[in-house]
Amino acid sequence: MISSLSRFRVIPSAGVAGTIVIPGDKSISHRALMLAALAEGPSRITGFLRGDDCLATLTALRVMGVVCEESGRDEVVVKGMGLRGLKAPANDLDFGNSGTAMRLMAGLLSAQSFPSTLVGDASLMQRPMERVAVPLRLMGANVATVDGKPPIKITPSAGLRAIEYELPVASAQVKSAVLLAGLYAQGETRTTCSAVTRDHTERMLAGMGVDVRSSQRDHSASVVGPARLTARNLIVPGDFSSAAFFIVAGLIAGQSPLKLLNVGVNPTRIGLLHILRQMGARIDMANERDAGGEPVADLIVYRSELRGIEVPAEHVASAIDEFPILFVAAASAMGTTRVRGASELRHKESDRLAAMAAALHAVGVNAEETADGMDVTGSSISGGRVDSLGDHRIAMAMAVAGLRAAGEIEVLNTEPVATSFPGFVAAARSAGIDISAD
Ligand code: S3P
Repeated sequence: MISSLSRFRVIPSAGVAGTIVIPGDKSISHRALMLAALAEGPSRITGFLRGDDCLATLTALRVMGVVCEESGRDEVVVKGMGLRGLKAPANDLDFGNSGTAMRLMAGLLSAQSFPSTLVGDASLMQRPMERVAVPLRLMGANVATVDGKPPIKITPSAGLRAIEYELPVASAQVKSAVLLAGLYAQGETRTTCSAVTRDHTERMLAGMGVDVRSSQRDHSASVVGPARLTARNLIVPGDFSSAAFFIVAGLIAGQSPLKLLNVGVNPTRIGLLHILRQMGARIDMANERDAGGEPVADLIVYRSELRGIEVPAEHVASAIDEFPILFVAAASAMGTTRVRGASELRHKESDRLAAMAAALHAVGVNAEETADGMDVTGSSISGGRVDSLGDHRIAMAMAVAGLRAAGEIEVLNTEPVATSFPGFVAAARSAGIDISAD
């Protein structure tokens, strides 16, 4: 069972090749469950990611009376009960490792007529929650945090009002929490932001019949409430953030082109593609199509000589989950890659700037952390032991680093890989990475 795995060992191999089908998108799977639960009638979700994070959302909805029937590996039928159909949970709602589940649910639960308490694992209990509590309070919600962190305690309010809110951090989770609360408010609830953030919530709400407006000019998004959501079949594309590990594997160690099938290529998610191409990567897109309102393609990745660059600030938000693996690409590039404007990385499942600097040092790579970024200079990678600090993306990134290492890389605390990519080890093996897990 994947969840019992606590360590990866990667030994040098000939490189990667072949075809990998990328599993469902984590962000979209959470949203599909939540929105289907608020819709009127049953929605069938296909391509659902059965990772621990999305299962935490599924469990929370069940605890609040939503019937969710799982059929097969990646299909769930959610019997939506309408905007007012959720029932009071008997206990605290436990969102495990998932910041997305907790923050989006905080928006949704702020509008309910029952109280709720939102908790999570040790990592989630340390993550900042005032970023959602502040706008929800402006809407009239009663939301309390403890020193800005979970547990989040929500008690019923007299009703929510529509607001216009400028996001102080470029966060799709905060935007989505406000928009979900806005479904219950009278009139237009609108967010603006200085940078582009993933727009899956807006796309899915629009597809379910909600009046959603958005503009590229000020990165604004709004919903008009009170809303009614129409149940519909929802398709979850493959997760670009999971594909990212194999994109870099193919670039730094491809024996022949590596094909990644069914990858979501929503423009708000593919900052890494733009960054890697500037570094000299050849990544082709084929079979571009629409799947349930999201752009999807197959990616063909060619081994490429990468060179260090200054990462353009405009791509930081749309590559925010991909920095651990980008740093591995940078370690395999000629010269120095410089990242700035990425202080949000300190508030993820771990402090990803500190964690990746330590992991790269442990395998002999020159990485210099700054307050809001890192300089990574390409060099040879040695074997070594690294601690993922229980951060799934650090664990997978350092496993990929093993493709260029002179000796074995051992990665500790890898269980949380099951939050986003339960089949990672099998996929990596099938591509030729010599990885074992115990
Ligand atoms: C997510 C948004 C991002 C991202 C996270 C998933 C989402 O977080 O890092 O993994 O599904 O909305 P922020 O909104 O905090 O940037």
